[in-house]
Amino acid sequence: MQQVKAVVALERGKPVEVVTINVPDPGPGEAVVKVQACGVCHTDLHYREGGINDDFPFLLGHEAAGIVEAVGPDVTGVAPGDFVVLNWRAVCGECRACKRGDLQYCFNTHNATQRMTLEDGTELSPALGIGAFAEKTLVAAGQCTKVDPSARPAAAGLLGCGVMAGIGAAINTGAVRRGRSVAVIGCGGVGVAAIAGSALVGASPIIAVDIDAKKLETARRMGATHTVDSSQTDPVEEIKRICATVYDGADGADVVVEAVGRPETWKQAFYARDLAGTVVLVGVPTPDMKIPDLPLIDVFGRGGALKSSWYGDCLPSRDFPMLVDLYLQGRLDLDAFVSEEIGIGDVEAAFERMHGGDVLRSVVVL
Ligand SMILES: NC(=O)c1ccc[n+]([C@@H]2O[C@H](COP(=O)([O-])OP(=O)(O)OC[C@H]3O[C@@H](n4cnc5c(N)ncnc54)[C@H](O)[C@@H]3O)[C@@H](O)[C@H]2O)c1
Ligand SMILES: [Zn+2]
Ligand SMILES: [Zn+2]
Repeated sequence: MQQVKAVVALERGKPVEVVTINVPDPGPGEAVVKVQACGVCHTDLHYREGGINDDFPFLLGHEAAGIVEAVGPDVTGVAPGDFVVLNWRAVCGECRACKRGDLQYCFNTHNATQRMTLEDGTELSPALGIGAFAEKTLVAAGQCTKVDPSARPAAAGLLGCGVMAGIGAAINTGAVRRGRSVAVIGCGGVGVAAIAGSALVGASPIIAVDIDAKKLETARRMGATHTVDSSQTDPVEEIKRICATVYDGADGADVVVEAVGRPETWKQAFYARDLAGTVVLVGVPTPDMKIPDLPLIDVFGRGGALKSSWYGDCLPSRDFPMLVDLYLQGRLDLDAFVSEEIGIGDVEAAFERMHGGDVLRSVVVL
């Protein structure tokens, strides 16, 4: 066991604190990772607000890269010294989803068996089974995905959640590709990643929608061909208009990615897609949210697919090394997602800046 500094949400809605935690030595199937960088994702704030569940205290942070320090006795997939991106989809290989070949839907993903604790022994709930706003963290060995060590940790770590969720929402869940039109509603880290992924596979037009003009500037830099400020303009009408100027007869986008997680923006996505198009919900709603007044005949009549995207339907072992490779070739600008590097004591301030519009990702560097 060793003691390290970490960012913990002790109580619902209260500011996070840097405290000392106990990290057990890795047992069977586990690894201890020395964290080098961890991005601040909106989901961390959801945890702090009690929007995910009530299992306080939470050890926050889950978009991380680092070096494996030690592994349990039976671990063969990774070894001390390996540069890894942490993932929250260590597939089991045995559940119904894995057995039928849909590993990205694994119902029984692995996390560490032992628990990290506060100094007084109170068990911590690591965010998404990771907990990486910490000098070191204990995870299941399968949560460590080896990637090219020449990648910058602050950039590579972002693949561990938001950037992978966004890219995958577009290209895995939405099957966006060349010849398809895309609209993305909500241009934070996740939405902009969906835009970057759409650009990577040659989609056009790529329409960015946000209520914050600064976010739209970033979206354009990352590959959006058009931007819509939905605080000023009806996004449904505007998406339909833009798509019709590019593709004769188009009545909306082929794929609309919702990256906010609210009923009103999901409804915009629903009505902004073309007939038989696809809606991808990657934004995370809170349990109280409902879609009021959606005529079932519209669901039927418009055809197509209404999908949700957990983690961009990614397979870390397939997707992380590929995306790091594209990054190192200069074809995917992961550095552009890193708005600022901050210290472990700056997470609460980063939560506040999330609403300011200037920051795509604050990344804690250790
Ligand atoms: N499904 C997954 O696997 C997964 C993974 C990571 C994050 N998420 C979720 O994705 C969502 C986005 O995460 P993020 O880190 O990009 O958050 P963020 O706060 O950085 O970005 C949200 C964006 O939505 C915009 N927005 C807010 N209200 C809007 C509205 N009414 N219309 C248009 N735009 C609006 C904001 O201006 C902001 O740019 C969150 O709900 C997060 O929890 C999902
Ligand atoms: Zn499984
Ligand atoms: Zn996240």
